[in-house]
Amino acid sequence: QAPAQDGIASLEELRAATMRCRECPIGEFATQSVIGEGPARARLMLVGEQPGDQEDLQGHPFVGPAGRLLAKALEQAGIPREQVFVSNAVKHFKYELRGKRRLHKTPTQREAAACLHWLEDEIALVRPKALVALGATAARSLLGRAVPVLANRGQWLPRPDGRQVLVTVHPSSLLRGAPEDREPAFAAFTGDLARASKLFD
Ligand code: URA
Repeated sequence: QAPAQDGIASLEELRAATMRCRECPIGEFATQSVIGEGPARARLMLVGEQPGDQEDLQGHPFVGPAGRLLAKALEQAGIPREQVFVSNAVKHFKYELRGKRRLHKTPTQREAAACLHWLEDEIALVRPKALVALGATAARSLLGRAVPVLANRGQWLPRPDGRQVLVTVHPSSLLRGAPEDREPAFAAFTGDLARASKLFD
């Protein structure tokens, strides 16, 4: 197997390299980096924005509230959670301290761009057939241009490397909105994800 760019030959090496990464300011304040997890040859890679508070503490992607919603949506969409590789566009948790609470802060375009080569290493190592962009940060990183998520959700868009990317919202957006909007928003998210279920037939 050809090594990925950066001379990174395994996910373990990627993890170690991202731990040390200070190419943007986020890493200095995070507990640790969080890279993607899943089968080494997953057919589908899901890409979120960045680890959240729980992910930063535990060192695993999508283990907090957004991750639980994602797992439920995948199940309803007919996608086996254990067969997908889940990752993030940015490998460290960016936050703002409010008292003792660490509040999520959206990474800047420059921070996401600095992290992109790690995500590309991950794609080169896992070699998924297709990807899902969960939200705007992931869509921009994966597709190399700003992609309005609401106008493109449920669509497959091609990457320069030829891989298809299914665009949808980020699961944490389902935790915001008004309570009466949550059920339809969750159903729409599940509907988008279901468009990737044919990969597992
Ligand atoms: N949100 C993300 O985008 N990624 C995670 O890993 C957790 C929450």
